[in-house]
Order: sequence, then structure tokens, then C-alpha cells
Amino acid sequence: RTQMRGDQVIVVSNREPYMHERGAGGIEIRRPASGLVTAVEPVMRACSGTWIAHGSGSADREVVDRHDHVALPPGHDEYLLRRIWLTPEQEQGYYYGFANEGLWPLCHVAHVRPVFRESDWEHYKRVNRLFADAVVAEARSEDPVILVQDYHFALVPAMVRERLPRATILSFWHIPWPNPESFGICPWRAEILEGMLGSTIMGFHTQFHCKNFMETVDRYLEARIEHEHSTITFHGDPTFVEAYPISIEWPLPEQARTWPSVGQCRSELMERLDIPRDHRIAVGVDRFDYTKGILERLHAVERMLEKYPEWQKRFTFVQVAAPSRGALEEYRLFQQRIAAQVDRINDRFGRPGAPVIRLLAQHHEHDEVTKLYRAADVCLVTSLHDGMNLVCKEFIAARDDERGVLILSRFAGAARELTEALIVNPYHVEETADALFHALTMPPGEQRERMASLRSTVHEFNVYRWAGRMLSDAARLRLRQRVSTRV
Ligand code: F6P
Repeated sequence: RTQMRGDQVIVVSNREPYMHERGAGGIEIRRPASGLVTAVEPVMRACSGTWIAHGSGSADREVVDRHDHVALPPGHDEYLLRRIWLTPEQEQGYYYGFANEGLWPLCHVAHVRPVFRESDWEHYKRVNRLFADAVVAEARSEDPVILVQDYHFALVPAMVRERLPRATILSFWHIPWPNPESFGICPWRAEILEGMLGSTIMGFHTQFHCKNFMETVDRYLEARIEHEHSTITFHGDPTFVEAYPISIEWPLPEQARTWPSVGQCRSELMERLDIPRDHRIAVGVDRFDYTKGILERLHAVERMLEKYPEWQKRFTFVQVAAPSRGALEEYRLFQQRIAAQVDRINDRFGRPGAPVIRLLAQHHEHDEVTKLYRAADVCLVTSLHDGMNLVCKEFIAARDDERGVLILSRFAGAARELTEALIVNPYHVEETADALFHALTMPPGEQRERMASLRSTVHEFNVYRWAGRMLSDAARLRLRQRVSTRV
């Protein structure tokens, strides 16, 4: 907060921090399943300012004022939310089409082929323009601080820069950045890079993504690259490229003090899902997305039961899968494939009334997920590729008893920091199955040692550190800009 004292902060993201949904009891507030929201929301509460996002809840339009601003729920009114409305065609082309059928599989190595349609690209450009216009309309000075979030808005930085040349634009790419050859298949690669280079700072989760980005720019644009200063200069304007590993809120929010005990969470879960009392529990919590490695995880669970049969009557795996991007066929087919695998494994290893895998394919509120983390012996995060992944950090934050084992994919950005987890290659079923067995049989002392160390890492490198580093770099660059314009 001190970094930007007096400066106006504007956040731009596709997903909004709260959705208003019409439910049985009237309008209900829901927090979407999004790592981006988990990370940026506490930062916005600390900085205040305006958050501009796509209004996508079924009752969102019922609660806005005439400027499309919405009052946030009590206790969360430190900032203002401005909703942007899209037509169904715009949402289809910009969000489902270009962002999620084009850029998403382009940036994640999950071996799903990207689809590039000219009409999606046109919508993407138009929607980026809409959001850039909203930023300019919200700006109260010629040099606000603008935080542009994610692959939905690659063009916004340059669009805003044209109209607010003195703005400080901090862009953060929440997903991986691929190597130049992979990115090069995008028909509009140069336009996307030029759009991003409107940023003052371009942030990624890891050094590796930064390096890929700089090499991509070097390959496809006429720009000056200074690796020693992590800077790209394009058309005379510098962009500082840096790794800022994202994280979660810590110290924990108020609710942490009212969490039920680990024992209570466990009993409640066992009762609710009818899990036998002597069972050990592993959990997975994801959006229902093909990058999350849910299929490979199921195969690992199956292999573990096959290889270590003594666990067949003593183990339950609970997978929460929040429905996501369901308008896309790729996602619907994936959901069906997972459901079929769950049935098959349950037929093979479950007993009547006691399936070994529980698939909970519905949205869960944050508090419920926390209870699940606290009830678990093991948490499996086996993404095939992930920018960072915050589920693993939330699991760690939830375990103030210093128990529980984290199994983590080496292809999630988080694996670079969370080295005391059991790190696996999710494509290697045997390795993941063995890690699961190792986790189930790990002595409490070793669990405690690993968990204590993981907790101190997440505690130290929390989301305030992520935002603080970015904002202090921005403050430094702003000062430099002010001094240079005075000369
Ligand atoms: O973190 C990557 C991300 O795509 C965010 O941009 C997004 O909010 C989240 O995952 C969930 O996806 P969606 O917003 O498409 O439901």
C-alpha cells in the first residue's frame, strides 16, 4: 500500500472477484474458482481503487448502479468493482474462442491443439478495446497505476498506452509462456507481442517464462533486448520483464481463527460422504480442465491400489472438479472421460456403497474447500502444465497442524518454490502411484518437518510480497520517468 500512496490503482481482469447469482434464497454472492481472483483480491483490498471485470453472474446486472459499478459485500468495500457487459457473440469469440481455444492450449503444453479463428480474433480485439476504454474512463489522472491481468487482455497495454502515455502499466501473465517455436504458430503473434509491450512491466511466474517471452519477442519483432537489464525496448518504449511468483494471502484472514479443528473437518467429511472411519483420504481440487492432470491422477490412484493391495479397503480419493468453460466441446468431452474413468475404477476397486473415488463435480465455496484440505492426509496437485497453481499453497496454508502430505507436479510453477513436496512427473503413472504410497505411509515426524518448511516458504513469499515487489519496481520506474521528463 505504501508503494503507491496517493496513486490511483485500476485492475483489469476477465473474471470478477464476486459474482451475484440468483439462487433459491434470492441473490447470492459467489467467489469464482480462479487462482487470479484468489491472489489479486487481497491486494485490491489493501490498495483500494477500481477493479474492471466482465460481469458474468446471472444476477450481476441487478445490483449495479447506473455507471455499472457495484457495491461489494460488507467487509469487502475497500475497492470499487466496475462490470463490463458483453454480448453472447463477444463472449463466445473473445473468451471461449480466442482466449480459451486459442491462447490457453497455445501456452500450456497439454497436447491439445489450439484453434485460431479470424472471427474470434476480431472479437478479442474489440473486447480488449472495450476494456481499454473503460480504463481510460475510470482514470482520474494522466498517470494511474494499471494492473492488467492475464491472457484475455494482451492488447490492452498498448491500447491504454496510446491514450494515457504516462500511465504505469503492470501486466501479469498468469499462465505459462511457451518457447518461440510453439508461440510462433499463432497467426497474430506480432500483434499480441506489440500489445503486451505497451506495458511498463511484464510479469510472469518464473524466470523460465520470462526467458521464453524475451526470446519470442527477439524472434518475431524488431526490438532491442537487453538481457542484463531484463528490458525490451520497442518503438522507443522500455518494458521491464521480470518473474514475480504469485501466491496467496498470509497471515490468514479472519475466518482462519474460526476454522473447525482438523478432527472435526475429518469427521464431518466422513459422515457427509459416508467414508469408513478407518480410511485414509487423499484430495484433489481443480477446475474441471484438461491441463490439471486429473486423468493421469486417476490412473495413479488405480495403479497404487493395484500395486499396494493392502490399501484397497483403507483408502478414499475425493476429487473436487469445479465446472469450467462448459460451452467448449473439449471441456465437455473431458468431463465425460473423467466420469467414465471414475466409474470404471470404482467398479474395479470399490465395494457396494463405498466407492474408492468420489467425484464432486460442482462449485465449492472457499470455506468448504478449506475444510476438505484440513480433512485430508494427502493433497494431489498433478497439473500437466500450470503457470503457478495456488491449490497447493492453499492446502499448505490450511494445515496449521503441520500434517498432511503434498504431491506436486514438476510442471507447475509452484514446484520451483515448494521443494519439500513430493515432486512427480504426472505423465509417469508409476512414479505418482509410488509417491501416493509414500505419502500414505510417511511417518508423522517427516510430515511435520516437510509441512513446517513449506509453511514458512508460503508465509514468507505470500501474495503481498508478489504485489509489493511488482509495485516497488513500478515506483522505481515511475520515479525514473518523472525525472527524465523533467530534463
Ligand atoms: O489463472 C489462469 C486462469 O485462466 C485465470 O485467468 C482464470 O480466472 C482462472 O484461470 C479460471 O478460469 P476461468 O476464469 O476461465 O473460469
